[in-house]
Amino acid sequence: MFLLSMIYYMIDHMKSSNSPDIPNSLNEHWMPFSSNKDFKKNPRLIANAKGVYLNTHEGHTLIDGSSGLYCNPLGHGRKEIIDAIKNQLEKLDYTMPFQQGYGGSFELATKIAQKTPEDLNRIFYTICGSTAVETAIKIAIAYFKAKGEDNRCRFIGRDRGYHGMNIGSLTVGGILNNVKVFTNILMPGVKHMRHTFLPEHKFVKGQPETGGELADDLEKIASEIGGENIAACIVEPIAGSTGTLVPPKGYLQRLRKICDKHGILLIFDEVVTGWGRTGSAFASQEFGVTPDLITMAKATTNGIVPMGVVAVREKIYDQVMNASPDGTIELFHGYTYSGIPVAVSAALAVQEIFEKEDIFNRVKNLSDYFQDGLHSLKDLKCIESIRGYGFLGGIDIQMREKPGKAGFQVYKECYKAGLNIKPTGDALIIAPPFICEKKHIDEIIEKLRTGISNFVKSK
Ligand SMILES: Cc1ncc(COP(=O)(O)O)c(C=O)c1O
Repeated sequence: MFLLSMIYYMIDHMKSSNSPDIPNSLNEHWMPFSSNKDFKKNPRLIANAKGVYLNTHEGHTLIDGSSGLYCNPLGHGRKEIIDAIKNQLEKLDYTMPFQQGYGGSFELATKIAQKTPEDLNRIFYTICGSTAVETAIKIAIAYFKAKGEDNRCRFIGRDRGYHGMNIGSLTVGGILNNVKVFTNILMPGVKHMRHTFLPEHKFVKGQPETGGELADDLEKIASEIGGENIAACIVEPIAGSTGTLVPPKGYLQRLRKICDKHGILLIFDEVVTGWGRTGSAFASQEFGVTPDLITMAKATTNGIVPMGVVAVREKIYDQVMNASPDGTIELFHGYTYSGIPVAVSAALAVQEIFEKEDIFNRVKNLSDYFQDGLHSLKDLKCIESIRGYGFLGGIDIQMREKPGKAGFQVYKECYKAGLNIKPTGDALIIAPPFICEKKHIDEIIEKLRTGISNFVKSK
């Protein structure tokens, strides 16, 4: 009966909207990072979105508690961004980014450089977070080659890190499920430090007091393989995709010191934390530690057009430039879609909104309210840990039968309760849009409580 009414609803909806909100077939699309078989039995399609709300193909409304994949912090359907893209497309839809350019990408680079810390003022465009990390790895190698330090070709990542899905970014990442099928083709020479989550961090709000000494793993690795052989160490200032691991106090400072001692470049992957999620433009500024390269993506265009960025210290750029004779290409690297007009126009519009609406301070002012809300869920029986910083939170759900099952089920219960969040294994990631008001945060927390409680009852 339910199935029949669902089919009638779908047919009706298709007739009235004449849009592909409900496709004829789900078979052909191989969905990324998804349980395809499960989805195709019970599809969750988003038909349209406005502000902090998403509407499903079944006519339900969800509050977007994860800002999409952390990438829509200014909400959906922002007219300023849409208009900027439309205007750009009418004027110049594409231009080759190699050996020629267009004004907008230079204007955006200047704007980004004004917001990055210290002298990370040279801006390289990529097409996503993975390609930003891949580019940072290659820039580090090119820099040391230009300096005559060819031996520096090893990279250090961290357990539970996520840096994307290309071979280099995958290898420096530290989430086992992501690499297990691909171990034979990983980048050579990569070592990992331990992650920073300690048992006593389970219900800590903000930065934990203990664990700063875990940074000494880098010192240990340097003594084992020779600090002079390491090109760079890459970390997310807050490990995002693994479920929000906030750096212990002093940890990032200690990493910086060890890098300086051995001449190792420090890369902060700010694909998630960049552009305000911590309450500062970059986590680097929030935690008072300046890396040598910063990668960013997601919020750069409010997630509307793919774009990644690498911000690089001037000395790195200069070294690479000076190593090549005039008239030759200094770095044999780039993408067809590096800094293309449509992405740049979206990013410029985003920058304008950041400034006009004082977005980073907005996050700063509401962070405690959001974190208090998250920790108010501590009484729910199946919750093992709650962590967070700024507008980023992680909740661990007790494992049920096998890893990942509980997290996926809670995600589905939250979806039914009218909340969109991102699960990773048994961790839930909550990353509200920056435009949220207190009432939206209340709604996210209330629906989290409903979704998690319904999961507990479903035992
Ligand atoms: C920290 C970090 N780096 C890199 C990436 C990869 O970004 P993309 O999916 O745009 O390639 C992600 C994606 O979530 C990320 O969280």
